[in-house]
Amino acid sequence: MITQEHNKLMYDKYGEQYHLKRSNKESSLWNEYLDIPAMTKLIEKNVNQCDVLDLGCGSGDFTAKVKSLGANVIGLDQSNKMIEIARREYPEIEFYVGTAEKIPFNDKNFELIYSCLMIHYIKELSPLFAEVARVIRSLGKFVFSFHHPFNEITHQVWNGSGYDVTMHPYFHNDEYRWNMFDEMELVSYHHTFETIFNSLNDNSFVVERLIETTPNDSIRNKYPRFYEMTSNYPSFCAISAIYLPNQK
Ligand SMILES: C[S@@+](CC[C@H](N)C(=O)[O-])C[C@H]1O[C@@H](n2cnc3c(N)ncnc32)[C@H](O)[C@@H]1O
Repeated sequence: MITQEHNKLMYDKYGEQYHLKRSNKESSLWNEYLDIPAMTKLIEKNVNQCDVLDLGCGSGDFTAKVKSLGANVIGLDQSNKMIEIARREYPEIEFYVGTAEKIPFNDKNFELIYSCLMIHYIKELSPLFAEVARVIRSLGKFVFSFHHPFNEITHQVWNGSGYDVTMHPYFHNDEYRWNMFDEMELVSYHHTFETIFNSLNDNSFVVERLIETTPNDSIRNKYPRFYEMTSNYPSFCAISAIYLPNQK
C-alpha cells in the first residue's frame, strides 16, 4: 500500500483516539508545550481578519484557536474521519476533505497558510510547496511545523537519570515508521534542512523565521522527563516563509 493511503487509513481508523489524546493537555505534551506555542508565536500577528487555510487540520483544535485570534480560517485534511470529528467539534468552522498535494481551492485564495506537523508525511517537498504557492497571495505567509530533522535520526533511551542517544545517518530522504500510540503506525519521510530550505526557495518562498522548539522552564518540575528530553534534544521545528513570486 502506498504511504499516503496507509497514513489516511491510520487517521481514519484511529481518529477518535487521536482526537481524545490531542485534545487532552496531559496526553499531548508535545503539541501543548512545543508545537502550539511555536506555531502561535509565528502566526498570531498575521491572522486577524485574514483568509487563512489550516493544511492538515486534523480534528480542528488548533483551527479553532486560530479562529479565536480573528482569522477567517478553514480547514483541510485528507482523512474523512478527522474532518467528521472537526465538523462535530467546531460546527462554526468550514472543514473540507482533500489533500495538500492537490488543494481544492482557487489560485491566490489565502493570505496565510499554516500546517502543524503534516509535511513530514510527504516525500517530495518541492511539489507540495509549489501547490501552496499556487493558492497563496503574493507576500502571503506559509507557516509550518514538522519533526526536527535531528529528531528523526536520533533514538533516545531513558537510562534512569538521563537519555542515552544513538544517532543514525542524516543525508537521505528515506521513510521511517513510528507509532502515534499502540497500533497507530505512521510512515514519514526524513528531510534535511538543505532540502527544506532549497525547496522553499525554488518555489519563491523566503524564510523569515525558524523556531527549534524547547519547553518553557515553568514545566520543569511537573514533567521532568519530558523537560529533560525536549530541552536537550530537538523535537520539532517551525518555519515562517514569505511568498515573494517576483524575486527570482
Ligand atoms: C499529526 S496530525 C496534526 C493535525 C493538526 N494539524 C493538529 O495539529 O492537531 C497530521 C494530520 O495531517 C493529515 N495529513 C497527512 N498527510 C496529509 C496530506 N497529504 N494531505 C492532507 N492532510 C494530510 C492527517 O490526516 C492528520 O490529520
